[in-house]
Order: sequence, then structure tokens, then C-alpha cells
Amino acid sequence: MTEIQKRALELKQERGAIILAHNYVDESLPGIADLCGDSLELSMKASKTNAKVIVVCGVRFMAETVKLLSPDATVLLPCSDAGCPMADMADGTMVEKARSEHPDAIAMAYVNTTAETKAHVDICCTSGNAERVVSSIPSDKKIIFLPDANLGSNVSHKLGRNVIPWKGCCPIHDKVTAEMIENNRRMHPGAVVMVHPECRPETVAAADVALSTGAMLKFVRESNAKEFIVGTESGIIPRLIRENPGKTFHPLLPELVCADMKKITVEQVVESLRNDTEAIVVPDDVASKALESVRRMLAL
Ligand code: 13P
Ligand code: SF4
Repeated sequence: MTEIQKRALELKQERGAIILAHNYVDESLPGIADLCGDSLELSMKASKTNAKVIVVCGVRFMAETVKLLSPDATVLLPCSDAGCPMADMADGTMVEKARSEHPDAIAMAYVNTTAETKAHVDICCTSGNAERVVSSIPSDKKIIFLPDANLGSNVSHKLGRNVIPWKGCCPIHDKVTAEMIENNRRMHPGAVVMVHPECRPETVAAADVALSTGAMLKFVRESNAKEFIVGTESGIIPRLIRENPGKTFHPLLPELVCADMKKITVEQVVESLRNDTEAIVVPDDVASKALESVRRMLAL
């Protein structure tokens, strides 16, 4: 453990804080985190903790979701410009326009959205529970699924549901093609190909499984296979290696890196715990509506 990591742990204890980290963040952060997980696991933890201070090592929409679920805690995002380009592909005005065009549809927001956007939808989902959430909607209802067209299509194909497409995607996962998978299979014959459901439908069809990051970690743990091709942000690979000695992992594309997910450093966590930077604020009227959408998801 480095000196700066030790300092972060001391401050965490002094402040009665917990640190939540997403599976994609820099390798120096899981060592000081109380939980390293996918978006669903981070939300569940946030809904159950009594911590006074919660530091979120991830991107802004994650910190906002934590604030919705733990409104009395000081929720800190150590790097204020860690955002998600996909979350910026939808806002409340766009949702209201779509709702007016499809007045009978249910509006469902992937958790990768701002709190302001969440305040305009009926329910949220994550990549880990999207199928369950869509299945909970009566089958005669159309669904406006935002902002990820790929996740929306993947779920609608799997469940045979009518999903109204949105123009948005994760620029990182959208880069992965079926051809890249075929090339990787030639280089590593027999390896299991895992991709994230934010990948395009034809990419998902060419892979063996499409899973959230948390589900990938579980899948590898429980699998008898020894070799895996990993089609998601590269930050998950050190954790896969650490937790699965004797298994081999190949990134599907070495440059599959989300720059925003890599912005937070241990130094910034220390600064954040010292100075409360940046404390997330969600206006009350937005928070109450957005929380309803998140709670409907967590209740399932
Ligand atoms: P999950 O970890 O929930 O699968 O999400 C992936 C992601 O892109 C988060 O930004
Ligand atoms: Fe957003 Fe994609 Fe980065 Fe996740 S990996 S934070 S969805 S840009």
C-alpha cells in the first residue's frame, strides 16, 4: 500500500466515510474502496449505508444516483469533470418530446443518465437488471428506452419487446465490432468471448455472452473455461486477473478505455475527503422525482 493510499484510508476513518468504486476505475482505487462493483451494486450499497460521507470513484451520474439514495450523506465526486458522454445524449426536454410523440409509452432510463433526466422517466434500469425491468412492464406497452440504443435493442431482441429507439450510445462499447470478435477468436481459439450489452446487437450476436461488469466477474468465477476475450472497458481486466489465478484474459481491443472513468486518482480522493470536493447537490424537486424512478427499479 502506498503512503497516499494509507492517507486516504486514515481520512476515510476520521470522516466516517465509505468509498464506492466502479469496476472500470484506475487500479490504485479498489485497494482503498469499501465496494468495487457495477452500477447496480453501487446503487444497492448506497441505498443501504448509514455512512455520513460517501466518496464515489466513477463518473458523475453514479455520484448523483448515490446522492438520490443517500440524501443525508455528503456525496463526493473527487474529480468534477468525470462525466459520461452517453449520459449527455438525453435530457428532460428530449424525454418530454418523446413522451408527447408516444403518450402511451413507458419511459425507461438507463442509470447512465443525469438526475435531471431521471426525473422525467417512469423507471430506471442498469445493464445488470435491464431485462428484469423491461419484463416488469405489461407486454402491450411500448417502451421509450434511453439513452443507449444498443442496450435498448439488445433487450428488445432478447425479450421480443417493442422498444422505441433513442439516438445515443456509449462511444467506447459502440467501437467493438463483430469482425473484431472473429479476429480475436482466430488468435485465441476456444476462448470465451464476453461483451457488455452496451455493444451493438451484431457484436452481441457474435459473442458468447453479453453481461454487466458485475455479471462478468461472477461468470468468470463460476466458469470452467480457462481463457476469456473481454469486450468491455479495460479497467475490469486487472480485477479479473487478481480474482482468477490460472485463468487468462485478452482485451478484445487494447484501446477500449473510458477516459472519464480513469480521471479519479487516490490524490483526488484525499483532497476530496479533506475539502468536501465536489459535494454533489441535486435540487429537491429533481431529486424527489428522480428517486421515484430509481426506487421503482430497486423494488423489483
Ligand atoms: P455496468 O458496470 O453497470 O455494467 O456499467 C457499465 C458502464 O458503462 C458504466 O458506465
Ligand atoms: Fe459512459 Fe461508456 Fe464511459 Fe460507461 S464506459 S462512463 S457508458 S462513456
